[in-house]
Amino acid sequence: MRKKVSIIGAGRVGATTAQILAYKDICNIVLWNRTEGTAKGIALDLSESAPLEGFDTKITGTSNFSEIKNSEVVVLTAGVPRKEGMSREDLLKVNADIVKKICAQIKKHAPESKLIVLTNPLDSMVYLSKKITGFPKERVMGMAGILDSSRFRSFIANELNVSVESVSAVVLGGHGDFMVPLPRYANVDGTPINELIKKDKIKSIIERTRNAGAEIIKLEKESSAFYAPASSLAIMVEAILNDKREQLPCAAYLNGEYGLKGIFMGVPVILGAKGIDKIVEMELEKDEKKLLIESASKVKELAKEVDTLFL
Ligand code: 2OP
Repeated sequence: MRKKVSIIGAGRVGATTAQILAYKDICNIVLWNRTEGTAKGIALDLSESAPLEGFDTKITGTSNFSEIKNSEVVVLTAGVPRKEGMSREDLLKVNADIVKKICAQIKKHAPESKLIVLTNPLDSMVYLSKKITGFPKERVMGMAGILDSSRFRSFIANELNVSVESVSAVVLGGHGDFMVPLPRYANVDGTPINELIKKDKIKSIIERTRNAGAEIIKLEKESSAFYAPASSLAIMVEAILNDKREQLPCAAYLNGEYGLKGIFMGVPVILGAKGIDKIVEMELEKDEKKLLIESASKVKELAKEVDTLFL
């Protein structure tokens, strides 16, 4: 029997995630939205593309949380997206209330699921989700590092005019202006980018990566990115459903790894059927560690705010 993946929130990220997962044909999908018509309409439209795209994924639209029962994975996309001039942190107050209500429902109806959170500000919303659901750390995670790393990879590939598939790169840390792209680990089929791209250019690629979400909002004004976030979510879902044990940067609960405790932050993890099977500790140089600690301190500030205001 196909496993069930529930997507909470049928906005652009939620709907596009449903579309990508349907095309992969690896599960059945429940698409939940506050307004039933939106969820049902998108589910129907997507289902009607099945004969053309050749998938057998069943897609159900609903505003009833009981439909998410027995989900293998729940993807939480609900919340207000950033508008121009807003930081992800500005969203904290609006989205914390939404996340709290929804997580109580996830705990009730899908208590055995693995939960992937996308709602911003990411690191604090996944922290709040863990507190509300009480799920073990293996089963709660945030999507950000895959997105940030993909942006980093695409900018490097553009600069060098090579296939994105030849480029490996990783971004750690919080999903905010203090994220930590690691140029020392970035390479083109094994050749470090330090040997291929001038220092100044690498610096500007790093800056562009850090501001990539804002760059899109500035262009679109009323909306934030959704294609790359949805692709990133689908990669995580697939890794879990197919027990791929793929190494991916995800927001994971740290319990001493990288010298940090009690927060969620982007680090490489092994993702498989159990959820986060392992946190991978990369060897970092002094300046890289410093950046990661700086990023963690921003993440901690928001987690503290969540503790005081919402728990
Ligand atoms: C981004 O980076 C929405 O935070 C998301 O585009």
